Amino acid sequence: MFIYTNISIMSKPLIAGNWKMHLSEPQSRGLAEQVEAQAAAYADTVETAVFPSSIALSSVNSLVESTATGVQNIYFADEGAFTGEIAAAQVSDVADYAIVGHSERRYVFGETDETVARKTAACIRNHITPIVCVGETLHERQENETVQVLNDQISTGLTMITSEDVAGSVIAYEPVWAIGTGENAKPEDVASAARTIDRAIGEMFGRKTADQVRVLYGGSVSSETAGSYLDLEEISGLLVGGASLKEHEFKAIIERAANGGAETGKS
Ligand code: PGA
Repeated sequence: MFIYTNISIMSKPLIAGNWKMHLSEPQSRGLAEQVEAQAAAYADTVETAVFPSSIALSSVNSLVESTATGVQNIYFADEGAFTGEIAAAQVSDVADYAIVGHSERRYVFGETDETVARKTAACIRNHITPIVCVGETLHERQENETVQVLNDQISTGLTMITSEDVAGSVIAYEPVWAIGTGENAKPEDVASAARTIDRAIGEMFGRKTADQVRVLYGGSVSSETAGSYLDLEEISGLLVGGASLKEHEFKAIIERAANGGAETGKS
């Protein structure tokens, strides 16, 4: 029987809001101000991060202090003739994090595990913490391929960085069928996937490294369901899409994280 050995004292839970292709620049600043008030109130116990559209990243970054900021996607080259792309080097002063290999990038824009590896390396080169997204499609799940898919995405996606870099990175388990569908994964399935990810990293980079990697869950998280994931010892935070655009929802999720995932009745 596999015994879960991740006994490291995890740092504060990370609550990350991926705003995707939503909100104008002024609207982004408005939401950021609201989030910032909550992030500041709970800064001792929760790390909050927002991922605005690139048009608003800089201005959002300049108005927050207790909220980390991140970019939703980067290109893997540091500069060059790549029309429409953004280099990690161009946002390294305004992005603490970068989401890499989000399923919308993989399945809408055709990104592969190899491009994920190159983008992850570009983040590390430019001192941005990558949040590498992994997760199976519905078909893969039905075919019982979840473990294989996660192993492949981890082993290729992290292949270009060192164990020290991996230790400081974040992995987001985001089953594709749960993203934006309202169909969130069962906590026990999330725990099992997180253990698969932990084991894959442990085999590649050693147990000490695996113990330091933060694993998030993402996929239709709401203030109602956040606590059930935050209670899992395998999970260090949440990557929230739709609910992060709703000020009260996102604030409630931050508050749940501050209270160790327990419901408080306040929002
Ligand atoms: P969702 O998105 O919460 O709207 O499902 C999650 C994500 O895409 O990271």
